[in-house]
Amino acid sequence: MTFRNVSLLAVEGLAVGHGGGPPVLSGIEFRIAPGERIGLVGPNGAGKTTLLLALTGVLPAAAGGIRLDGRLLALNGFTPEIALVFQQAHDQLFCPTVAEDVAFGARNVGLGGAALDRAVAAALQAVGIASLADRPIHHLSGGEQRLACLAGVLVMSPRILLLDEPSGALDLRNRRRLIELLRGLAQAMLIASHDLELVLELCPRVMLIDDGGIVADGPAAAVLGDAALMAAHGQEIPHSLTRHVGEGHRHPVAGPTARPGKAAVAGA
Ligand SMILES: Nc1ncnc2c1ncn2[C@@H]1O[C@H](COP(=O)(O)OP(=O)(O)OP(=O)(O)O)[C@@H](O)[C@H]1O
Ligand SMILES: [Mg+2]
Repeated sequence: MTFRNVSLLAVEGLAVGHGGGPPVLSGIEFRIAPGERIGLVGPNGAGKTTLLLALTGVLPAAAGGIRLDGRLLALNGFTPEIALVFQQAHDQLFCPTVAEDVAFGARNVGLGGAALDRAVAAALQAVGIASLADRPIHHLSGGEQRLACLAGVLVMSPRILLLDEPSGALDLRNRRRLIELLRGLAQAMLIASHDLELVLELCPRVMLIDDGGIVADGPAAAVLGDAALMAAHGQEIPHSLTRHVGEGHRHPVAGPTARPGKAAVAGA
């Protein structure tokens, strides 16, 4: 695909593990084009969060390189252009109130005074929690905390948005709001999620990771619709890609899109 020739982010031979242990992931290679949205899927423990943490420098990579616009990044450095919404809200939120937490992100990118106030208000408004601005963080529901995390990242206007299970804990209305919000953003995104329908709605491209690496990388419907590939990695074809059988919306054993092992090309 031609868009991959113009890369905003290039990941080259990345290996990353935890606490000096053996790598969870190795030989990770992919590129993200400006504005491209990629779904990152794979079973529990496959390394989705580990990869996102490495891309933001929270978890220093053991080997390889990460380039932004061709510029090699320090493997354990903070790059405000690449921002992560954490899987666990309590890993991200730490200020006394929602507005203060979002303001922390704004200060990170040099905003102050009235510009900071405007940016904080706009970010809270965008995710639909303006009314919670002065609430203590620990008085928020799980879903509200997720939205506060997203506001805290959006306020930095990053060029690449990394989202770790963004729809986790959201009710259907807020999940829909999130999908429409993300759809309307110009940033490139890497979205780690078990919500495969959300991935299908937002991401033209999907990477499937398992067994320490990227096992498939290709068009979303081809990867997620490949029954054999998905089953081999503990996944199911998302409901909207299956041919429904019977009144109970049971999944057929193999859907019409199933083409064992052929749909996606690893490392494409
Ligand atoms: N802090 C840590 N110390 C040691 N090992 C860890 C740590 N965090 C994660 N791991 C291990 O690294 C591997 C990858 O975990 P990771 O959280 O990246 O998976 P994931 O794909 O995000 O899973 P999930 O779908 O459950 O969120 C797992 O084997 C996990 O047990
Ligand atoms: Mg995870």
